[in-house]
Parts: sequence; C-alpha cells; structure tokens
Amino acid sequence: MSRFRKSVVPAPVTEVTSAPAATGVEPDAQLAVSVRELNHFYGQGELRKQVLFDNRLDLLRGEIVVMTGPSGSGKTTLLTLIGALRTVQDGQLRVLDQDLHRLSAADLVRFRQRVGFIFQTHNLFDSLTARQNVRMALELGAPDAHQANTRVDALLTELGLGHRLGYKPGQLSVGQRQRVAIARALANFPGLVLADEPTAALDKQSGRDVMNLLQRTALEQQTTVLIVTHDSRVLDAADRIVNMVDGQIISDVRVKEAALVCAFLRNCPLFASLTPGTLSSVADKVQIERHPAGSVVVRQGDPGDKFYVIKSGTLEVLIEEEGEVRPGKPLGSGEFFGEIALMTGETRTATVRTQTEAELYSLGKDEFQRVLDSSDSFEAELRKVVFDRQ
Ligand SMILES: Nc1ncnc2c1ncn2[C@@H]1O[C@H](COP(=O)(O)OP(=O)(O)OP(=O)(O)O)[C@@H](O)[C@H]1O
Ligand SMILES: [Mg+2]
Repeated sequence: MSRFRKSVVPAPVTEVTSAPAATGVEPDAQLAVSVRELNHFYGQGELRKQVLFDNRLDLLRGEIVVMTGPSGSGKTTLLTLIGALRTVQDGQLRVLDQDLHRLSAADLVRFRQRVGFIFQTHNLFDSLTARQNVRMALELGAPDAHQANTRVDALLTELGLGHRLGYKPGQLSVGQRQRVAIARALANFPGLVLADEPTAALDKQSGRDVMNLLQRTALEQQTTVLIVTHDSRVLDAADRIVNMVDGQIISDVRVKEAALVCAFLRNCPLFASLTPGTLSSVADKVQIERHPAGSVVVRQGDPGDKFYVIKSGTLEVLIEEEGEVRPGKPLGSGEFFGEIALMTGETRTATVRTQTEAELYSLGKDEFQRVLDSSDSFEAELRKVVFDRQ
C-alpha cells in the first residue's frame, strides 16, 4: 500500500459531524469552501443563543451543493457566514482561498465581489432597468462597455427576460425580478454562488432555466454553487445534498457520484443480482480511489481490509510461491479482487499492481460482509468467479 494515492474526491457519503476534529483549514486548490468547527451565536448576555454547532463542510470547485433542513435550523446563517455577510465568531472558514476570519474590512469588500448572492429579498434598484441593475454588478470589473452590455443581455435573455431588458422592477413580476437578481449574481463571473431559495417564486419553466444556467456556470467556469432549497427541480441538479438540523450538518450525500457508481456496478455480473436497495447502499459506501501506473494496491501477506472493483485500467496479479513469482490473469474494468482475504480472514494471497493508471471502487471489510450476508446470489456469484480464477 506504500504508493497508494487516494483520490481527491471525498467518500460518497460522509457523516460530517463524526469526522475527526481538524486543527485548521489546510489550503487546498480543489476546495472553494472549507468550514471547520464553526459555531455561531445570536444575542447577548442571557439572550445569547447558539444556532450553529461545530459544523464542518468542504465544497469542491465547480460543485452544485443543495442544503436542505427545517425552518430555523441555521441554513441562512451558515450561508451568510460563508459569504462574509456575517463575521465569524468561532471556528475557521476558508472561502475562495481566503481565511475569512483574518480579512480586513477592505479585503472583505473585495472578497464579496467574487461571490454571487441570490437571496430572497433581491434588493434591486427601483429606478434602474433590468439591464442597468445587472450592469451595476459589472461596473468595477468590465472596462469594455460593449462587452459588458452583450454579457448582460445574454444572461437576461437566457433567463427568459430578453423582452424585458428596459423594464424597471416595478413593471416586472416577482419571478421576473428574481431572475434579474440571478443574472446580477452571475454577471461578474463569481467563483462562488450562494443562493437562498432562488427558485421559490418561479414557475416551472423559469425554475428550469435558472437551474440550467447555474449548471452551465458551474461546469464552464468551475463556479461552486451552494443553494438552500426544498425545490425538487433543484435537487435533481445537485451533485451533493447537505442536510442541516438544529444547527448541525447531519448528512452530506454525493448524489451524482453514488448514481454513477450504482450504474456501473449494475452492469458488473457480480452485482447484477443485488436488489436496487442493496446496490444503492453499496454505491453509497464505496470509496473512489485513483492509483497511478505501477502502484501496489494489495500486497501478498498483508491483512485484507478492502474489496475492490475496477472501474478503469488494468492490473497485474503476482502470486509468490516457494520463492518464485508467477503472474495470474490480469484484471480489467468490471472485474474485482481482494475478496479472498476478507472471506477467509487470512492474509492477501497475491499482490495486485496497476499496469496503467486505474480507478477503483473500494468497499471496507464490514460493508463487504454486510453485502455477502444480504444476498445468497452475490456470494454464489463471487465463489464461482473465484473458483474459475484458480
Ligand atoms: N438576526 C438574528 N437574530 C437573532 N436570532 C436569529 C437571527 N437570525 C436568525 N436567528 C435565529 O437563528 C436560528 C437559525 O436561523 P436561520 O435563519 O439561519 O434558519 P434557516 O434554516 O435559514 O430557516 P428558514 O428555513 O426558515 O429560512 C433560528 O432559531 C432563528 O430564529
Ligand atoms: Mg433561511
């Protein structure tokens, strides 16, 4: 395992609250947001009340993350802390490569310009047209007026407001005003978009337009989007869903990743017989590992701790017997290894080494055992393949 390189992609499902306490926020280029041990209180003296409790959260660049949770659970409070609209009282918050608790007032102003805010109260200027309201966000960053106007018009048109460019907020419906606010939040190519119920006032088509635009922004500009919502149209677009209850993030599910893993496993003969429920619980539990060519994934004689399914790449199998090393059949996409030591409780019976760069799904020992226990056909299929391999 010495050359083992773990993927930067975190586990598909993490119980965030049980994660080990970190001593600070390590700079990481992949992360747009890092929240560590974050607490927050409202009020003074006897009225002081804690509303956020020891929160930990990492958001990757380009990720769309939806936060759900009951009313009063602290979602807006967390969002406004991440956007530096509130001061960090206790804990660490690193956003777009800035430690928020260390920024001066002037730096905070500059920081906020890199964030697109979409809040329920949209604060448009009543005396300005839709186009001028969005253009306001660009005043500082875009010296070329023609380019700026083209961008503003394109954004508003994409949100279905091409015919309302010259209208003032008073002449627009609630949903149209909300879309102007969304265009304004995206105008300056923000690294992070923070949205609180952005689609609540929108009809079906407008809600879909907004989500399409946010998805494209995330994909093309690697913008991270954090959305508080219960809207199922938004849930469908999420890469992850984070659930907040009583001031604490209690679950963090990487939906797309789990769905991809599930689709892949379903096509592997070994997993084909599992019920959809078992399959999705397996998909939720697997870790994604990426190993460069030439790395030893399991070593003969080591204790077994994981079972592996190969997503991509080829691996060679080396079996040492009486001082001689003989090669076994190489393994490729859809095949698996590591099961024998887990089933027998003995040490690894072969060394498995990547021949090319490989992407592997690994399942811990306990989880593997649970799957074995849950399905006779899984165990039968496993034994058959293992037998054929001998
Ligand atoms: N400015 C404030 N002063 C005092 N208490 C506040 C303030 N803002 C929020 N709270 C309280 O903090 C807790 C968390 O509120 P927050 O607005 O973050 O929840 P939320 O999850 O966004 O709720 P909702 O879904 O209703 O928007 C609630 O108990 C709320 O009453
Ligand atoms: Mg709220």
